[in-house]
Amino acid sequence: MAKKMKLKKQAKIGIFIIIILIIGCIFGVKLYKEYLYKQTYEYKLLEISYSLEESNILIDNLNDKELNKILELEYNNNIFKLVTEKYFIFNNLEKYLDYISKADTKNLTNIVAMVNVNRDRDYYEEPEKASIDNHELMLVNKYYYLGEDYEPEDITAISPTYAYEGNKINEEVLAAFKNLAEEAKISGYTILINSSYRDYNSQKEVWESRKALYGTRQADAFAARAGFSEHQTGYAIDVADFYDINDKFGETESFLWMKNNCYNYGFILRYPEDKEEITGYSYEPWHYRYVGIEVAKEIKNLNITFDEYYAYYIDK
Ligand code: DAL
Ligand code: ZN
Repeated sequence: MAKKMKLKKQAKIGIFIIIILIIGCIFGVKLYKEYLYKQTYEYKLLEISYSLEESNILIDNLNDKELNKILELEYNNNIFKLVTEKYFIFNNLEKYLDYISKADTKNLTNIVAMVNVNRDRDYYEEPEKASIDNHELMLVNKYYYLGEDYEPEDITAISPTYAYEGNKINEEVLAAFKNLAEEAKISGYTILINSSYRDYNSQKEVWESRKALYGTRQADAFAARAGFSEHQTGYAIDVADFYDINDKFGETESFLWMKNNCYNYGFILRYPEDKEEITGYSYEPWHYRYVGIEVAKEIKNLNITFDEYYAYYIDK
């Protein structure tokens, strides 16, 4: 009898211990889960005031390194909006935030575009040497320049069939232009090159003669300063319609043909209308840049300038 009682008591103690262990386990698992959650970006972002929705946007769009950087910054309700912008570049984040407080526009797409092409700085402010590794895609603008003695290779004279006198251009560009001009001719348009490769000193003359006529501001709107012109790359051309007596290429049918077809030959309209703020130049319907067929088509489809393309797809 006493033995039976003892067994019963032991069973009760056993059950008690099991219950305690189960409760302990449940509690332990809960604590561990809490511990794990506290290691997550979601928890850390909520801790610095992001909402759950904002945290998820950040987590979906950024990698670990970038998220850790966000955690070092104070809460900012522009960050989670910026990261969803198509051309957002993480390395520019602080510049975007800084520019938002200074710029006239509060439109984040514009902010991203402007900062990506360095427009948060003044023109010619701390310019960098252009990267000349890939000639076809080198960017030369008001922030990237070529040295005084930079002379491109493979520059060749253009025959009078395709250009006015004295023009020279990169051989590959010439071959592409010949194809373009032949096709245009079949459609009834006579498109000729009237300016092409210009060395440092020729560009200097172009800019200075503009300046003498119209002043620095106007000169800067239409002509590049010496060293800052993509005409010095050997990959840029200015064209004209042979029959255009008004010398207004933008009003000719040849221009419409160029606008719709130049991409198929590797050229882009380099300074489009309404993109002055991005390119730094007034609309130039006559100026085309050779970038190769693939990139030209991509730029056309994305509807962006070469400056924007370079920042996001080449330099980043
Ligand atoms: N007209 C273009 C901007 C140049 O001078 O290079
Ligand atoms: Zn030009």
